[in-house]
Amino acid sequence: MVNYTVTVYTGNRITAGTVNNVYIKMVGTDGKSNRTWLKSLVTSRGSVSTCTVSCPNSLGRLVLIELDKPPNPDSRDDAWFPEKVEIKSPKNDVYTFPVHCWICSGDAQIFREGTALRIFDESHSLGQNARKEELIQRSADYEWDSYAPGVPHTIKADGPLTLPVAVQFSFTKATEFLFTVVAGLVELKIKGLADNPENWKNLDDIDDVFHNKDTPLSDYVQEHWKEDWLFAYQFLNGVNPTLIQRIKTLPENFPVTDDMVSIPGFSNLYNEMKQGNVYLCDYKNLDGILAHTIQGMQQHLVVPLVLLHKRPDDKLMPIAIQLKQTPAKDNPIFLPTDSTYDWLTAKIFVRSAEFVEHELNAHLLRTHLLAEIFAVSLLRNLPMVHPLYKLLIPHTRYTLHINELARKQLIGPTGFFNNFTASGGEALTKILDRSLSSITYRSLCIPDDITDRDMQDVPNFYYRDDGLQLWNIIFKFVQGVIQFYYKSDDEVQRDSEVQTWIGDIFQYGFLSQPQTGIPQSFTTVPELTKFVTMVIFTSSCQHAAVNGGQYDYGGWMPNNPATMQRPPPTKKGTTSEATMLATLPPINVTVQTMAILWLLSRKSSDFVPLGHYNEDHYTEATPRQLQAAVAAELDMLSIVINNRNEGLEIPYTYLDPKNVENSVAI
Ligand code: FE2
Repeated sequence: MVNYTVTVYTGNRITAGTVNNVYIKMVGTDGKSNRTWLKSLVTSRGSVSTCTVSCPNSLGRLVLIELDKPPNPDSRDDAWFPEKVEIKSPKNDVYTFPVHCWICSGDAQIFREGTALRIFDESHSLGQNARKEELIQRSADYEWDSYAPGVPHTIKADGPLTLPVAVQFSFTKATEFLFTVVAGLVELKIKGLADNPENWKNLDDIDDVFHNKDTPLSDYVQEHWKEDWLFAYQFLNGVNPTLIQRIKTLPENFPVTDDMVSIPGFSNLYNEMKQGNVYLCDYKNLDGILAHTIQGMQQHLVVPLVLLHKRPDDKLMPIAIQLKQTPAKDNPIFLPTDSTYDWLTAKIFVRSAEFVEHELNAHLLRTHLLAEIFAVSLLRNLPMVHPLYKLLIPHTRYTLHINELARKQLIGPTGFFNNFTASGGEALTKILDRSLSSITYRSLCIPDDITDRDMQDVPNFYYRDDGLQLWNIIFKFVQGVIQFYYKSDDEVQRDSEVQTWIGDIFQYGFLSQPQTGIPQSFTTVPELTKFVTMVIFTSSCQHAAVNGGQYDYGGWMPNNPATMQRPPPTKKGTTSEATMLATLPPINVTVQTMAILWLLSRKSSDFVPLGHYNEDHYTEATPRQLQAAVAAELDMLSIVINNRNEGLEIPYTYLDPKNVENSVAI
C-alpha cells in the first residue's frame, strides 16, 4: 500500500463549512483511487485539515480529483466551500488543486491540478476528457438568452436565484443588499413619499428629503448645482466622463455665432477652436427616441448640443445650449446671458438627457452588459485549468447576479425605468440598440478613446489621468501573464478555446456588427493582450468611474432629473421658478430615484478591490508574482491619487484603486 496525504483548506467566508461527509477520488496517469470517505477531515469555516488516503499502488502523476458530499440523513444538507486541496504523493511530490467554489450534495465535481494548461498542452486523455466534459456542463449551466433585438445577449435565467450557485451573491452580500433595499423602501413608505405623484412646491421641500441621505459631495452639489463651472466640470469628472470631445469645427446643426458669445478676452469661435479651447457634448445618440409615459402623462426627452469653452484660467464653462438637434426658430440656442431661468432650465434639460445617456449607455450597456458578455463567454468556453480563466474569473464576480437583479428591478416591465423615467418602455431598448451599434472597440480602450476625443491635454481631467495610469498598470500585468503562457503568435492562433471565447463575444455581445471593430479572432499576442486589458479595465475601472458617483451627483434631483414632465421651452422669456418645478420630476419619481442611486452607490463589506486576488487560481510562481506586483503598484497609485486629491476642491476618488472593485458587482 502507498499513502497519499490530503490537506483540505475550507474557505473563511460565512457558511463555508459543512457538517456533511466528504469523499475524494484521486486520478493519476497510472490509475485512480477508490472513492474514499475523508473520515477524520475537519470542514469547519477557515479550517485546514489533513487525512491519509491509502492506495494499493502509486497513481503516477495526479491529473484531477473528484470531490463529493452526499446528503446526510442525520444532519442538515449544507453546501461546502473549499478553497483548495493539496496532495502529497508517496514520492513527496505536492499537487495543488484549486477549488474556490461551492460543493452541494449530488454528483461528484472534478477539479484539475493547478498548473495552467491550454488545450494543446493536454498530453493525457484524462485531462482532454475532463476538459471536454467540464465545458459541456458549463454550456448547459450558462446558456445564452436573447433579451431584445439589437441588445447584447444575456445569461438565460429567471432571476438571480435561478443562477448556478457559483455566480450568486455571497451570504454577506445578499443580506446587506436586501437590508439596504428594504430599509430604503420602508423609510419612503412611512413618509408617504413613494406613492405621491404631486409636483414639488419648492426646492426646500426636496431638501428636507435629501438630507436624510447625503454624502459630502452630494451636499456640495446641492449648494453649487446652478453654477456654470460645476455643470461643465461634470462632463470631465462626474458620472459620465465619456461624452465630451474637443472640436475644431462646429457641427452644422449647431449654428452658434460669434455675436452670441460674449466672454471677456474671447477672440472668436474660429480662433478659439483653432487654439483647442472649444469642446462639445452632443447627445445625438438619443435622437428620434419617443419619450415614455409615466402615470399616463407623456414625458419629455431632449437631444441637446452643449458648447463649452476653456478659459485662460483653465476653467471649462458652458457657452451655448441647443436642446434639439435640428436648428429652428422654436429651438433657440440658450446662452449664459439669457434670463436666469431660461439658462437654468436649459441646463436642467441637458442634465435630464445626461441621466439617460449615462445610466443606459455609459453605465448599463458599456459596463454591466458588456461585463456579462465577457463573463458568460468565459464560463462557456474556457475550463478552470485555462490560464485566461484563472486570470479573468475574479473579474466576473457577482456580475450575473447583479444584472439579473437589474433586469427584474430596474429595466424590466415592472422596473424602475419603466415606472419612473422618460427612457422606459420602448425607448429603453431603442436606446440600447442604438448605443450598441455606435460602440467601437477603440472607445472601450481608454488610451484610444482619449485620443479620438482629442482630450489628451485638457486640464483638470482626472478621469483621464487616473484611468490612463490604471490602464497602463493593468496592461503591464496582463502582458506579463500572457507572455508567460503564449510564447508566439502561433500559440494564440492555435488556442481554439480562446478563439471561440472571442468569437462568442463578437457574436452574442456585439451582434456580429463589424463596424464596432471588436476582434472576431486573435492573430497575435499583442492583440490578445490588449483585448484582455480592455476586459479587465471595463469590468473594474470603467464601471467604477460611471458607478461610484451616482448618489454624489444624482442624489440632489434637480442636478439629475430622471424625467421631464413638460417639453423644453420653444422661445426665450417663458420660464420661471414655477415652470421649472412643474417640469422637474414629481415627488414619487424623485424619492424612488434617490433610493435607487443610494443603493447603487453603496460599498459592500465583501468588496474586493482591483488587483486583489483572494482566490489562488494560479499555482505557478510567475503569475502569482505578477499578481502581487500589480496589487503593490495599485497601492502606490492610490497614495499618489490621495495626495493629488488633498489639493482639490472636489477630490476625484472614483478611480482610486481602493474604490475600484475587481468586477461589476453593484
Ligand atoms: Fe453599476
